[in-house]
Amino acid sequence: MVDETSIFIGASRKPDDSYQRAEELLLRYGNRHGLVTGATGTGKTVSLQILAEGFSNAGVPVFCADIKGDLSGISMMGEAKDFLVKRAEQVKLDPYQFQEFPVIFWDLFGEQGHPIRATISEMGPLLLSRLMNLTEPQEGVMNIAFRIADEEGLLLLDLKDLQALLANIAERADELSARYGNVTKPSVGAIQRTLLVLEQQGAANFFGEPALRIADIMRTTRDGRGAISVLAADKLMMNPRLYATFLLWLMSELFEELPEVGDLDQPKLVFFFDEAHLLFEDAPKVLIDRVEQVVRLIRSKGVGVYFVTQNPLDIPEKVLAQLGNRVQHALRAYTPREQQAVRTAAETFRPNPDFDCATAITQLATGEALVSMLEDKGVPAMVQRTLIRPPSSRLGPITPDERRKIIAESPVAGQYDQVVDRESAFEILQKKTKEAQDAEAQAQQQKSGGSRWTIPGFDDVLGTGNRRSSNRQTVAEAAIKSVVRSVGSSVGRAIVRGILGSLARGR
Ligand SMILES: Nc1ncnc2c1ncn2[C@@H]1O[C@H](COP(=O)(O)OP(=O)(O)OP(=O)(O)O)[C@@H](O)[C@H]1O
Ligand SMILES: [Mg+2]
Repeated sequence: MVDETSIFIGASRKPDDSYQRAEELLLRYGNRHGLVTGATGTGKTVSLQILAEGFSNAGVPVFCADIKGDLSGISMMGEAKDFLVKRAEQVKLDPYQFQEFPVIFWDLFGEQGHPIRATISEMGPLLLSRLMNLTEPQEGVMNIAFRIADEEGLLLLDLKDLQALLANIAERADELSARYGNVTKPSVGAIQRTLLVLEQQGAANFFGEPALRIADIMRTTRDGRGAISVLAADKLMMNPRLYATFLLWLMSELFEELPEVGDLDQPKLVFFFDEAHLLFEDAPKVLIDRVEQVVRLIRSKGVGVYFVTQNPLDIPEKVLAQLGNRVQHALRAYTPREQQAVRTAAETFRPNPDFDCATAITQLATGEALVSMLEDKGVPAMVQRTLIRPPSSRLGPITPDERRKIIAESPVAGQYDQVVDRESAFEILQKKTKEAQDAEAQAQQQKSGGSRWTIPGFDDVLGTGNRRSSNRQTVAEAAIKSVVRSVGSSVGRAIVRGILGSLARGR
């Protein structure tokens, strides 16, 4: 029933509800993406869990977000509860074996998992603007800020780097406007204020180093199973924009860093995007287009993206069209709008003459779904009413103690725990400001009749200094240039990456 080329999902049923056959996800189409939908409490998380288990067992690393904490149980051995054993019998899962999975816990806040960070330059102007909900003119300023950072060799790692850069830009607004177009003090000020709000929401933890190494979410164990990265997202969900932007960033990083591989026997990584509606809610068209593009292209890098959300209508049509493997749990249909949603969801399936899809969607039991996976030649299979298999790992959350233990024994333990604050824009600009102030002070001293410390014969040299420092800008610029000369190639790379970050590219 289960072989190495597929993942067992459950058993479809005949019109009289008797067993029909095993439903499977073909691993070679695992990179053709997927969709898990359904109303609250209908079985989405469990479906995600059994898919993640299947991928892990096949050696495919998985990344998923744990919105309510109930996915964490995947790290623990399951137990033979009656309703699970009964379900296993119904779907002819024999033997029904229990298993714990290799899980790495991550947390943007560093509380329920290893801290996960990105640098500002990796995030890039488009995603940052989205994160901060900037207006178009403000986004323009953000783009210019990144260009300036690039040209002047200012490394943008954390929020205080960006703050320092913006402060510097505000000071030089006139000069920069002449060079790049409109950079007004008010628009810079507005961005600075938004940045403060972001900081108060705890985003400061997220920006900085050591940034996440993609290789760490693509690990496999010695016995050939894919590691399951579980992102603790309960607290993160209080800032849905940060949640969505972070996952988008991760997806674009994968896209950037992984080589083209064409079609493989199985994916290199599978990425579950829970609460996927947050990604698209009032997102600007340019961003939706980029997401659509990344989803389309990431396939050939061997990455499968699975969106999880209540309703298929939450996903823009162009993205929806690319999601090949589908699991539709029950939807309610009380209001006309809900009824419309049910009809639309039904229309996305290849119909089955045995039943009416729209009616079936409203009648599905918990843990039952309409399933259509890609079959031979990548064609969607006829939709089937399918009882989803029970998980092998624990159903429900783990205890804080269990979590602590797993975190301590993790293969990345110690790698991300300490923040590294190397010299970047903040420190460089601070130094420059100080140099400029010193030069100014010196000039003032010169003007006020020379200092008591004048060195005989050196008047000329100090006089030169006086002329130069009368123009603060020039001093600052000279300092910046010296920084540009002194930054190593590794710094340059980091900045360029941010500018060319996939989602920022082509603007
Ligand atoms: N395949 C399954 N086998 C056995 N029980 C299941 C299965 N799927 C769901 N259940 C039962 O239904 C409950 C709810 O499922 P689940 O948590 O997956 O719903 P959900 O759609 O994720 O809900 P929410 O939208 O609230 O997160 C589970 O705790 C479990 O008891
Ligand atoms: Mg759930």
